[in-house]
Amino acid sequence: MSAVDVLIVGAGAAGMMCALEAGRRGRSVRVVDHARSPGEKIRISGGGRCNFTNLGTGPGNFLGENPRFATSALRRFTQHDFVKRVDRAGIAWHEKTLGQLFCDDSAKQIVRMLTDDMRAAGAVLSLGVSVTSVQRAGAGFEVALSDGSRVTCASLIVATGGKSIPKMGATGWAYDIARQFGLRVTETRPALVPLTFETGLLEQTKDLAGVAVEAVVGVADAPQNSASSSPKGGRPTFREAMLFTHRGLSGPAILQISSYWREGEAITLSMAPGTDIHAGLKTAKEENGKQMVHTALGHIVPRRLAENVCAREGVRGKLAEVGDKTLRRLDAAVNAWTVKPVGSEGYRTAEVTLGGVDTAALDQQTMMATTVPGLFFIGEAVDVTGWLGGYNFQWAWSSGWAAGQAC
Ligand code: FDA
Repeated sequence: MSAVDVLIVGAGAAGMMCALEAGRRGRSVRVVDHARSPGEKIRISGGGRCNFTNLGTGPGNFLGENPRFATSALRRFTQHDFVKRVDRAGIAWHEKTLGQLFCDDSAKQIVRMLTDDMRAAGAVLSLGVSVTSVQRAGAGFEVALSDGSRVTCASLIVATGGKSIPKMGATGWAYDIARQFGLRVTETRPALVPLTFETGLLEQTKDLAGVAVEAVVGVADAPQNSASSSPKGGRPTFREAMLFTHRGLSGPAILQISSYWREGEAITLSMAPGTDIHAGLKTAKEENGKQMVHTALGHIVPRRLAENVCAREGVRGKLAEVGDKTLRRLDAAVNAWTVKPVGSEGYRTAEVTLGGVDTAALDQQTMMATTVPGLFFIGEAVDVTGWLGGYNFQWAWSSGWAAGQAC
């Protein structure tokens, strides 16, 4: 039996941040992870360049039953604090778009920065090890590990993330531990995930696979019977890139709206935002009525999209042969398309898990369970989910930091 002050389960973004902070405070720290390498999601994130934070991070960029819960941790360890660390480590970065910061070279640099800092702070990392059981022992915990050893600790930090990408070792272990200690877990579902179409709709849009446009996407007004399962509060629209796929829709705008969409609801898409399609086609008709309608539309939106929209609306022939009503219909088909996805691609490809350990059970300053002193939940395991764009890592850094000061 060995003893440490702090045992952290999960060497991801949140767990490593917590470990190095607790170690710097002089706490003896051990981190266990069942994976062979730490920070695997950091390594693959942002196409290998890790979108490690967002300059505009604020509580408004998060979902959860109580989105204000994140405010305290986000204020105490901000995006600017993390950027300072990245700068100190000599990691070059750039802002890609919308405040999203990426490494110039490689996400591995962020993993190395965290593992170096952990080592310097004296935290011990054990890879290829999982937890087989957790019991209360006095004021602390006794934890049995898969290598047959037992560890006692004063503070147990659960940093095992959510259920997204099971192929990478994601588990619902954090939720099991929460329930074991009587804490509520909110409904969990895949988020930041591509949306799928049913066969009929796929048949209509199959020619569009690979077509990308900038779009404004929102959830259409929810039908009465699904309102109860809808997220609370207003649902934003997102203006970002969107991509037609062989299964339905993807791209940043779709991933963003997937966190707000619920089964049975429709989404609305404006696929040429800010462009008056009706006026454009009217001018084209005045200038050259002999032009085919889909050719004229193809000068405003991608050609394949123009052909598909005309085919779906049953519009054939030359501009001179169609009336104003038809031009308005085409405008609506591009800029007010309402479509009902049938589902999502699920945890297999979801970037995050929406929902998690109920924030009502946690102290927002420390991330400790208010009814179980010494038990902490941080990162994605908690019911705090960020938008796409570096917000989820910032939550992992901020919540990991907060627990690291208190454990
Ligand atoms: P994280 O999942 O990082 O770490 C959990 C750790 O616990 C893992 O090391 C895992 O092996 C371990 N573990 C799990 N179960 C265990 C068990 N039972 N026993 C022992 N160990 C266990 N976010 C962002 O802000 N910018 C971005 O660019 C991206 N990009 C991105 C790409 C892809 C493909 C994905 C899947 C996700 C992203 N994200 C992202 C989201 C981001 O990766 C995620 O929110 C954070 O990694 C969450 O950090 P955590 O430390 O909470 O969990």
